[in-house]
Amino acid sequence: MGEQGAVGEHPPITSFVHHRARLTAGQQSAWERWWSVRGHEVPELLAGREPFDPPAWFGRTAPLVLEIGSGMGEATAQLAAEAPGTDHIAVEVFEPGLAQLLMRIAEAGLSNITVLRGDAVALLETCVAPGSLDGIRIFFPDPWPKRKHRKRRLVQPDVVALAASRLRIGGTLHMATDWADYAVQMRTVCDEEPSLEGGEIPRPDWRPLTKFEQRASSEGRSVHDLLYKRRAVGPSGSHST
Ligand SMILES: C[S@@+](CC[C@H](N)C(=O)[O-])C[C@H]1O[C@@H](n2cnc3c(N)ncnc32)[C@H](O)[C@@H]1O
Repeated sequence: MGEQGAVGEHPPITSFVHHRARLTAGQQSAWERWWSVRGHEVPELLAGREPFDPPAWFGRTAPLVLEIGSGMGEATAQLAAEAPGTDHIAVEVFEPGLAQLLMRIAEAGLSNITVLRGDAVALLETCVAPGSLDGIRIFFPDPWPKRKHRKRRLVQPDVVALAASRLRIGGTLHMATDWADYAVQMRTVCDEEPSLEGGEIPRPDWRPLTKFEQRASSEGRSVHDLLYKRRAVGPSGSHST
């Protein structure tokens, strides 16, 4: 891997900042009630103290979608409710967001979401087997708009290559952003990744319209959806499909 998630003498550059944030009373009680049932700590999985084991977590083997940065869990919970036959792993570092998602899971009685706290890039690299995911979602990743912070953007060549390698052939990488130049970056990086094919698509009706997206639209920023599929690439980089 490149700088993101790499372990070296310097702290790795991450796509997130760890804010200590207070939980609301509802989030706190959801955390106390549900975290031990639905939550897992990424550092425990990375260290091998706990297995990354979706069939055990969900009690079945089903198509598996992983979301990087589920935020407050609005889209995550809605998409999981609409796809009961698919299992969803939401990875986030922001505790109030994880707690809010736990509340949504409990309210809707969803059994097809597992919530992980920690860095999704490290998780993909260390714990997720190649070719094992049906989909990866990255909705509205932090834009890091200042030029000096650009290297913190999640969607970069090494992370996209890693994500693509964890998808099965035909599995999808779906991204959305309200930052035009980030959409260009996503497209450039994914177009250059030989194991992916796709591009920008019209906004799919099935992607939930979150408060976050509504605010972007009301502030005049248009939203870009990008959908790529993993394709088979031969050892020389030639396409075998
Ligand atoms: C701008 S928010 C968008 C949240 C949500 N997807 C939405 O559409 O409302 C981006 C989220 O990604 C999370 N994030 C960024 N990098 C991450 C990483 N490497 N692993 C896990 N979460 C990450 C941040 O904590 C933040 O909550």
